[in-house]
Amino acid sequence: MGLSIIILAAGQGKRMRSSLPKVLQPLAGKPLLAHVLASADALAADDVCVVYGHGGEAVKAANPTHNIRWALQAEQLGTGHAVQQAMPDTPGENRVLILAGDVPLLTPMTLARLLSETPQADMAVLTVDMDDPTGYGRIVRKNGRVKCIVEQKDASAEQRALTEINTGVILAPGDKLKGWLAKLGNSNSQGEYYLTDVIAMAVADGVEVHGIKANSSVEVMGINDKKQLAIAERALQARLVEELMQQGVGFADPARVDIRGTLTCGKDVFIDINAVFEGNVELGDDSKIESNNLIRNSKLGAGTVVHSNCHIEGATTGSHCEIGPFARLRPGAELANNVKVGNFVEIKKSTIADGSKVNHLTYIGDAEIGKNVNVGAGTITCNYDGVNKHKTKIGDGAFIGSGVELVAPVEVGAGATIGAGSTITRKVPEDGLTLERSKQKSIEGWTKPVKKGTS
Ligand code: UD1
Ligand code: CA
Repeated sequence: MGLSIIILAAGQGKRMRSSLPKVLQPLAGKPLLAHVLASADALAADDVCVVYGHGGEAVKAANPTHNIRWALQAEQLGTGHAVQQAMPDTPGENRVLILAGDVPLLTPMTLARLLSETPQADMAVLTVDMDDPTGYGRIVRKNGRVKCIVEQKDASAEQRALTEINTGVILAPGDKLKGWLAKLGNSNSQGEYYLTDVIAMAVADGVEVHGIKANSSVEVMGINDKKQLAIAERALQARLVEELMQQGVGFADPARVDIRGTLTCGKDVFIDINAVFEGNVELGDDSKIESNNLIRNSKLGAGTVVHSNCHIEGATTGSHCEIGPFARLRPGAELANNVKVGNFVEIKKSTIADGSKVNHLTYIGDAEIGKNVNVGAGTITCNYDGVNKHKTKIGDGAFIGSGVELVAPVEVGAGATIGAGSTITRKVPEDGLTLERSKQKSIEGWTKPVKKGTS
């Protein structure tokens, strides 16, 4: 028997009180739905169908996976109605695994267990015991066997006291499921076609329904509001950090780091508190991230140290670079090996070759800096004329004095020294000293201005 997966993602998620559809709310930097899709992918099903509706094309666009089938549920008439929209193209001979787009922490391991513990002709529902089951559908058992699921809003006081709940994950033989769905009604307190009603239908048809318990209630939590989203975020962060620690990454405090995307680390990496990683970040062997850093879509080479309070985006470094404290690397900042970028330095779309230093209060934009260059404090590449951007080229071994303005397009020859305070507008020859500033003079007999009377 093959496997089809249907993911329900058409709901608005009113309880989020957001203009963003619920399944697009970000968890660890990715939409909720992307997490469910990743778990589905791991099961290598024959086909994966996402039922979408609220948010329409935006939901599709945010989850551009090649092998998804999309089924539109134009009107959200309930979870049973949602599954119906996916059924016409789902092979009846397959087993159908139904997942909810708002249950993002579910692991492929748990789903694989559900599949292996359920005989092919039977049905299964993934359940869990919740300390506070409020809001969930309750699993009603008789003599230990699952009999039906009752939604919170339709449950009697006695049923509400039950703590075993429906996680929303249901497994059923496709042909039988098609039959049950066709018979669903909506005479309940919400006037919706409940998927959960198929459980009682299966029992009535003599199909065994296995209530398989998940190991943790956090793993199967449904995300309906911002509070649950925040709880899930912390739970997922703990899981991501745990995986990295198992790979040998050191953290000053596993609870004070955030990974919103994919963080790949070499050996003996150490990460101090309040580091935030976004998108794809790679840290080489022996690199060290000090406290309070944001690093987004960047690759740092072996032995690189990022001191406190830096903002790094779209940058790459070679080995043994030193960045910060308080540095900003913007997209296209490419540092080679042993480069130093110090405090209050901003670098954009520039290459800096081996051993060069830009240590204090400097802006480098659209520049090509050679090897072993020293850029003095307060230097600025004037790369923008108000309309276009221009390049600055600095040759190997040049020494740029403090407070120099390099008005681009401009070139500085290898080994040149530029005196402090110069405004460079023309090509600087190799070696030698270039100065561009007026002679210092002191005006004799000059008197300080005095404050004028007010009347
Ligand atoms: C549902 C279950 C409940 C279970 C809980 C687990 C039903 C009737 N109830 O309740 O037993 O304990 O999940 O989290 O199934 N959706 C659609 N189309 C619709 C309605 C919903 O695609 O017409 C999608 C939503 O986008 C969401 C999922 O189905 O991803 C669950 O919907 P939601 O409204 O959150 O159901 P719950 O009330 O949480
Ligand atoms: Ca839900």
